[in-house]
This record gives sequence, structure tokens and C-alpha cells, in this order.
Amino acid sequence: MTVPPVTSPPVAASARPVLIVGAMGFMGRFVAGSSLAAGHPTFLLVRGEPLDPTKAALVRSFRKKGATIVEGSINEKEVMEKILKENEIEIVISVVGGEAVLDQLTLVDAMKSVKTIKRFLPSEFGHDVDRADPVEPGLRMYVEKRKVRRMIEETGIPYTYICCNSIVSWPYYDDCHPAASPPPLDVLPIYGDGTVKAYFVDGADIGKFTIKAADDLRTLNKNVHFRPPNNFYCINELASLWESKVGRKIPRVTVSGDDLLAAAAENRIPESVVAAFTHDIFIKGCQLNFPTEGPGDADIGTLYPDETFRSLEDCYEDFARMVRDDDKIHIEKSWSLEPQVCVPGTALLMN
Ligand SMILES: NC(=O)c1ccc[n+]([C@@H]2O[C@H](COP(=O)([O-])OP(=O)(O)OC[C@H]3O[C@@H](n4cnc5c(N)ncnc54)[C@H](OP(=O)(O)O)[C@@H]3O)[C@@H](O)[C@H]2O)c1
Repeated sequence: MTVPPVTSPPVAASARPVLIVGAMGFMGRFVAGSSLAAGHPTFLLVRGEPLDPTKAALVRSFRKKGATIVEGSINEKEVMEKILKENEIEIVISVVGGEAVLDQLTLVDAMKSVKTIKRFLPSEFGHDVDRADPVEPGLRMYVEKRKVRRMIEETGIPYTYICCNSIVSWPYYDDCHPAASPPPLDVLPIYGDGTVKAYFVDGADIGKFTIKAADDLRTLNKNVHFRPPNNFYCINELASLWESKVGRKIPRVTVSGDDLLAAAAENRIPESVVAAFTHDIFIKGCQLNFPTEGPGDADIGTLYPDETFRSLEDCYEDFARMVRDDDKIHIEKSWSLEPQVCVPGTALLMN
């Protein structure tokens, strides 16, 4: 008798209840959308009904797609214990922003008390914070993320650290949500000599692979790295890609390593944090100076060889469309239409 080959990866039992913290945030909305699309019973923590109209619309949209909205804050231990217990949560994914990294210590404490959490993904969603070493004030955020890692490891809660590298964008050095804006049309800032490469991942792919990794036994207690080979670009190549999409040359200006260090030293939060990370990525090459084959590492490409990442080419086409639509809006505005605001990814999620 021929035994058929086992092709499916060793995933854990499906449809585990997932709690997502920070789902209405910039990165969190991709994770929440993917959890719902994957069929997980999905619980989204909010700190009251959002006043912000975009966030309120997201809540409505996620509810329509089957999400259960729960109210609380991760720094309220008893509230979090109750939410985790009553909803029989097995996977917790935190996508809180930089200012709330240490609030996760109370959440870890709550998870330790309930003892039923099968996997925790803390708010990482960038570089491997134990390996990268940006200047201040970026370092401060990494020190806090490392502190959360150490507490998780001490408590023995099963974990996965998502090291997704850069979200697809023009990497503006003063904008913590660069994927919300198209690349520049007037001047393209080139960091250093423009030859240091980085990995770029579409927001929807960050969400999709985060949810896969959260429910995969092979990623247990590991750093999971996102290194799509087709999306490995230096800033000179990004500039040429953008020029090819808009069909014209754009002046380039050098922003040196020292310029980035000076912007970091201004200590403006969050801009200087982004300048510190930009220096680490495009001057020091922090995304490439270590292998990902260690026992504590897993790579998305190796875990899911049949899955593809959306290409930068395609994503930059979206930006080009945004710019063309923006031109149209400006023309229409002169015919007295109301201005419109569009955040990429959001429109899709709101459908
Ligand atoms: N790789 C990249 O290129 C990249 C880019 C950006 C961010 N990141 C990383 O992604 C992660 C998320 O950042 P972000 O910029 O997406 O964050 P964000 O937009 O600031 O959103 C943070 C979310 O967390 C919620 N939150 C904050 N404190 C909370 C608390 N105590 N209890 C419950 N909810 C709380 C906020 O709720 P409210 O709506 O109530 O304020 C908000 O929905 C961070 O680790 C960041 O470093 C990576």
C-alpha cells in the first residue's frame, strides 16, 4: 500500500479563539482582518467605543464580519483575566503602539493567572529586538520590548515573536505609519549611499502570516522572520521603482547617516524614534546582519513554501493609483466636492 505524502504543515487544532489587542491601530487592523478571514472566533479589545470616525467604522466593519468586541485595557489585570476566562481565549495577539509596550506586563500577568493561553504574540512587528541595536530614542522602545520578552519567557507562556521587518512603504524617516502615504513626488530622500537593502512586506501579508504563525506548532517559542526575497530592495532601487510607476524622473537628495543621527538626537517622539530605526535599517543594515537558521528562529518562506508574498511592484502600483486618484480628487474639488481621505488597506477592510 502506498502511503500518501504528508503535505500539510503541523498546525495546531484550528479555530482557536483569538483575542487581538490594538486591532483598530495601524498594524492591528491587518491582523484582525486576517484572523476573521482564517475563521478564528475573533475577539477585539477596545478601550470604549472609538470617537475617531475611521476607528468607529472599522469596529462596525469587523463586527459585521463576525468579530466580538470586548471592552477593557490591558493594564487592568482583573478585567483582562475575566475577558480571557469568559471567552475561553487560547491565542492572544497584541499590536499595541510604542507608548503602550510596557502595559503588556500586566497582560502577561493576567495570562499567567488564567493558565489557559496556548500562544502569546506580543507587540513586536518589526525587527528582532534582541539582535537589532538602534541609537536612542529607538533603543528605548527595544529595551521595553526586550523586557516584555523576558517576562513572557520567565512565566513560561508559549510565545511567538513576529519579526516582519518593514511594512511596504516609502520609508519616510519621520513618519511611524509610512505605509499610509504614497512615496514623494517632489524629492526622493536617499539614505547614505542608497545601497543598503531591506525587506518590505505588505500589511495584508503581515496579517496573514502572523495568523498562520500564531496557530502553527513549528513557531512555538520562536522568532519568526519575514524575508521575502522578491521584496528585498535598497533605497536606490525603491526610487527607480517609484519613478517607473509615475513615469518620470524625480530629483534625489542624500540624507546622510549623520543627518539621521541628528534627527534622532532631537528626541522628538515619535519622529526621532523613526529616524533611529531608519539609521539602523539603511545605514547599519540591521535586517541582514544575522542568519535566521538558529534553533530559536523560523522563516516564513521555509514554513510556507507554497505561499507567496505580494510583490513591491504591485504595492507600488497601488501608490501610483492613489496619486492619480488624488489628482482626480483635486480636479473634482475645484468643482466644489468635499475633500476625501483615504488610508491604504482601510478601504479594503471596510468593505
Ligand atoms: N514594521 C513596521 O514597519 C512597523 C510600522 C509601524 C508599527 N510597527 C509596530 O507595530 C506595533 C503596533 O504599532 P501601531 O503603530 O500599529 O500602533 P497604533 O496605530 O498606535 O495602534 C495601537 C493600538 O493599541 C491600542 N492600545 C494602546 N494601549 C492600549 C491598552 N492599554 N489597552 C488596549 N488597547 C491599547 C490603541 O487603542 P486606541 O484606539 O484606544 O488608542 C490602538 O488601537 C508596534 O509594535 C510597532 O512598533 C511596525
